Amino acid sequence: MLFSATGFTVSTATRLAALAALASAVWLPLPAAAASAPADAKPVYSDAAALGKLMFFDASLSASGRMSCASCHSPSHAYGPPNGLAAQLGGPDMRSQGTRAVPSLRYVLNRTPMWSHAQAASLSERLSETDNAPVGGYGWDGRFNRLHDQASFPLFNPDEMANKDPAAVLAKLAQAPYAARFKEVFGQNTFADPTKAFAQAMYAIERFELEDPSFHPYTSKFDYYLDGKVQLTAQELRGKKLFDDPAGGNCASCHIDQSGVDGSHPLFTDFNFQALGVPRNPELRANADPKYFDMGLCGPLRTDQ
Ligand code: HEC
Ligand code: HEC
Repeated sequence: MLFSATGFTVSTATRLAALAALASAVWLPLPAAAASAPADAKPVYSDAAALGKLMFFDASLSASGRMSCASCHSPSHAYGPPNGLAAQLGGPDMRSQGTRAVPSLRYVLNRTPMWSHAQAASLSERLSETDNAPVGGYGWDGRFNRLHDQASFPLFNPDEMANKDPAAVLAKLAQAPYAARFKEVFGQNTFADPTKAFAQAMYAIERFELEDPSFHPYTSKFDYYLDGKVQLTAQELRGKKLFDDPAGGNCASCHIDQSGVDGSHPLFTDFNFQALGVPRNPELRANADPKYFDMGLCGPLRTDQ
């Protein structure tokens, strides 16, 4: 079953497969074919992913009616912000400023490990080299393990899409031009069970992010170099040597640039969290309050560390 990345095709078989996967509202991962397929292979695109794409670009799903996922994660800017603002403006009147920069959604989406943090038993252990840095999860503080969990956060965040609750999102979804398709894929009565319908919507967004090759194109010169399709110049090779050299830049100790054992291309990250000691950004309104601190893993959004 092959689906084009832009078209929307519903076959009975896929619809049944999607329904079976969602029958008990558990998350059964569909084959993530696009995840490991070479960039030039034809993507396998599920109906859920096609719906997720429509939702990702749908500004009517916000309280303002003017903000979609793509407003902040612009496909023409590597799914990062389309401007140089420290944080984007959103909320019901599009004037509230968030507290964090918009990350690019490129590459991390199908490879990010689950959050893990082996807590040291004592302070001395924590300060010693043997303590493991926390690793994994989505968001700047790794607080989401699954993309479908992450997807609801911007929908409800008062500084972003600012919906009051899932019912508000579902009411908008039921009015969307693709509402009929939503019912075709997830069942004609889906909106009768709001919990399940909302979960299906978040699942659709996740499938789009995982299946659409534009999130993980692997088309950089470095990717082609790893595939043996191009050579690096002498200058680039000198830079790579310095990047890798433990006695030089030592960058590769954190920004991994070796292919994985399965041949997967490196993403230049080890998914570890490091305290970089970046100073307060005066462009963030929240920082006008001297008592406000974004301590990342230690809050304010995470409260479990
Ligand atoms: C107002 C701007 C804005 C909008 C709209 C927005 N996001 Fe984000 N997104 C952010 C910011 C800021 C972060 C980092 C949040 C954090 O770490 O607290 C983020 C983080 C993410 C991440 C985690 C990426 C990573 O590398 O870990 C994903 C995935 C994501 N957003 C998807 C979405 C989806 C799906 C939507 C629509 C339902 C959406 N975003 C709408 C600003 C936005
Ligand atoms: C101790 C681990 C570590 C080492 C060593 C290290 N970095 Fe980083 N680097 C980080 C972390 C953590 C970030 C922040 C990543 C993020 O955006 O969350 C970062 C960010 C960056 C960024 C910005 C990435 C972006 O998405 O905006 C660049 C570029 C970069 N590092 C280059 C280098 C270079 C070049 C070297 C070697 C001279 C180096 N780094 C060494 C940990 C490291």
